[in-house]
Formats: sequence, structure tokens, C-alpha cells
Amino acid sequence: MRLGIVVESLLDRLALASGRVPVPIIDAFPSIIMARCIMAGVQLGIFEALAASELPATGVACLCATEPCATAKLLDALVGLRYLRRTAGRYRLEPSARHWLLRASPSSICDYLLFHYQQWEWVTRLEDFVRTGKPIHIHSEMGPAAWGAYQRGMYEIARLTAPEVAWRVRVPRGARTLLDIGGSHGYYAVALCRRHPQLRATVLDLPAAITPAAPILAAAGMGARVQQQAGDALTDDLGDEQYDVVFMANLAHHFTADQNAALMARIARALRPGGICVVQEGLRPAATHAPSQFEAMGDLFFALTSEAGLYAVAEIAGWQRAAGLRPQRVLRLVTAPGQGLQIARRPPARG
Ligand SMILES: C[S@@+](CC[C@H](N)C(=O)[O-])C[C@H]1O[C@@H](n2cnc3c(N)ncnc32)[C@H](O)[C@@H]1O
Repeated sequence: MRLGIVVESLLDRLALASGRVPVPIIDAFPSIIMARCIMAGVQLGIFEALAASELPATGVACLCATEPCATAKLLDALVGLRYLRRTAGRYRLEPSARHWLLRASPSSICDYLLFHYQQWEWVTRLEDFVRTGKPIHIHSEMGPAAWGAYQRGMYEIARLTAPEVAWRVRVPRGARTLLDIGGSHGYYAVALCRRHPQLRATVLDLPAAITPAAPILAAAGMGARVQQQAGDALTDDLGDEQYDVVFMANLAHHFTADQNAALMARIARALRPGGICVVQEGLRPAATHAPSQFEAMGDLFFALTSEAGLYAVAEIAGWQRAAGLRPQRVLRLVTAPGQGLQIARRPPARG
């Protein structure tokens, strides 16, 4: 998948072929407006206003407490983006808006789009990062409001992928204990525990994540089976042979290769013989291959906002092998394009 110009007419095709269309402007200008229209639609309650019935712009403005003419402009922009349809001056939701952009939908990504306001601010600091090489270190910089938006946004994304992850990870027979490192809302641990009724989980995250993540985890109704633990994956002792499964989603891209290798050594020690370590990550290709658009954007964004960026399968498997684990073949996720599960097993005890 990639974002790009889609021609809609023969004239478009001819214009592009002529080489006179300023493609960089098309790449750079509408995309920022598009992003902001969708975010504004969520933040201002535009999609929610249209949930029950179609309305004219004045009706939407009344429900959202916004100015009618400006609201009509935003509504028309959302028609152009195909999230809304306009018929005889009245607006209604397209199915994709109903599916993704209403809070009551099980597939809602409203909170993720609100977290996007924070990500937007980080992206404005790209040039400083490239000039200085100094990343933002989001986990030390965020205040309580940003932490809340972060955890809620991550939860919504996890909700889309966790069922597939729980289905595809083959936990060792009789597994009882799981550690979810950088687990935030804990929803991956919840999904794995739901699939394996004998499993109990500890969700380890930074102290600042615990309070905003607690209500999200509580809403899953797992009680004592999934518990939070405040700590730091970079320094905490994870113990000896305590867990059958150590799971870690979307964390490695925040750490340098050396930090990941050192963490993997502690994970290997914390696993029981026969236990597995599951690393879920956005993956980049090997250094010899050019990255795709999504891979390149993800790599740059995580370099900007943390220490590192995306890693290749071979790098993750390399940390696992160096820690004495046996890496398996990567599993590419259908529900999270570009992401994979790199699983490795601690060899069973001899005798
Ligand atoms: C991108 S989020 C991923 C959350 C969750 N695993 C998921 O995939 O939805 C990264 C999480 O790792 C946590 N984290 C970052 N650095 C950490 C550290 N040194 N120790 C423990 N957790 C950390 C963050 O607080 C955040 O909750």
C-alpha cells in the first residue's frame, strides 16, 4: 500500500504524462489539509452530529456549536474526502465514516485521531531533528494529557490487531504466565488471556503510563488475571524463568539496537525453558532493499520521536539468537499492514 496521486480522467493522465504537473505540491499540500479535516471532524463532533440522521450544514453547526459557513466548508471538504455525501444540501455519513469515525463503532479510531494532534506537533520538529540528530524522547517529555491521549490511541489500534495476534501466536502447551513489556492498555495481554483461559498476565510499562492506562484495562473486565506493573524495560530485572510468554508490541522501535539486544538477554533469562518471546513490530526491509513509502515514513517518525526507528526481521531475530533463543519465521499481520510477529523459543531444558 502507498498513498499517491490517483488519476480520475483522461485529462489527468495526459497532464501527468506531460511532466508539467507539480507533483511535490500535490504530495505536500492536500495531504496536510486532508489530515487536519479528518482530525477536526472528530474533534468538533462533526461525524457524531451526523450519526442519527442527515442534516444541512446549519443543523450540523447547531449541534457542534460551530459557525455555519465555516462548518459548510469543512463538510464539503469531507465530501471531497469521501467520508460524507451531500444530497440536496444535506450531509450524511459514508459507510467508512460510520465504521471508523463514530465512537459507538467497535472499530472506532476516534481516540487515535485525537492523539494525532500530539503527533502533528512532534512532526513540526522534524527539521530540528535532522539538523541536530537529537530526537524528541516523547516518553520523558509528555505531560498527563498527552499520556492519556497516547494510551487511548494505542488501545484503539491494538483493538484492531489483537484478535489476529492472539489467534496466530501459539503459546506453549500449559503456559500460565505472560509478561507484556511496554504493554500500555494491556489489550494484547487481554486478548491472549481470553484465548488461553489458564494464562495470567503482567503488563509492564513506565510509571507515567500506569494511571492513564488503568481505566482502559479495567474496562476489559479481566480482574486480577491481567495486572499492571510500573517499571522500566531498559533497567528492570525481569527475573529468572518466570514467564512462559514474553510479549512486546511496538516497543523495539523506541530503543536502539544495543538496548534491544540487552533487553532480549534479560527476556531470555526471564523465560522458562520452552517459553516464547514474541516481538510485534513495524518492519523495514534489509539494508540492501529500498524501503516502501510506509516503511520509510514509519522509520523516520520513530527516529524523530524516540531513539531508533524500524528494524528488519533479521535484526530482531539476531537479538533473539544472540540471547540464546531460537527464532522462527516471521508472521506478517493481515490486520496491521507492514507489521509482523517475530517469535523465538527458549530451548527446552535437557533431560
Ligand atoms: C507505542 S506504545 C505500544 C503500546 C502497546 N504495546 C501496543 O502495541 O499497543 C509503546 C509503549 O511502551 C512504553 N514504554 C516506552 N519506553 C518504555 C520503557 N523503557 N519501559 C517500559 N515501557 C516503555 C510506553 O509507555 C508505551 O506505553
